[in-house]
Amino acid sequence: MKIAIAADHGGFELKENLKKHYEKQGIILDDLGTYSTDSVDYPDIAEKMCKNILESSSDLGILICGTGIGISIAANRHKGIRAAVLYSDDVARLAKEHNNANIIVFGGRTMTLDEVVGRIDIFLKSEFQGGRHGCRIGKMDD
Ligand code: RB5
Repeated sequence: MKIAIAADHGGFELKENLKKHYEKQGIILDDLGTYSTDSVDYPDIAEKMCKNILESSSDLGILICGTGIGISIAANRHKGIRAAVLYSDDVARLAKEHNNANIIVFGGRTMTLDEVVGRIDIFLKSEFQGGRHGCRIGKMDD
């Protein structure tokens, strides 16, 4: 599975720590930026990630800003994107089972590395349930 990651300056540190964490397991995340702590605008980062996902360059995106809120709002403006802020372990499971999120979102200033790694793990191990949930997703993209 190909996973892309991107963050604004509020999520830069968490992005770097996630990359290091997965590198140790031999998993390379495709880093779409930002590449320093200099201030950037999260809608620009979200747009870059959404383009990547919608062109099927990656199977899943990870987006990070300070809270996860701004960058998820921006990503969800793009048709075909289902960006979910994984603010708890239960939500990490449900974001896959019910919403089949194609971008998962975290807060670099509100969540710890351990919490985020745990939620990514739960999300990846969960399965989309389809059925009525598939019908609802379809309605959003019509
Ligand atoms: C940037 O300072 C901050 O506003 C941004 O990272 C995010 O938290 C917005 O929702």
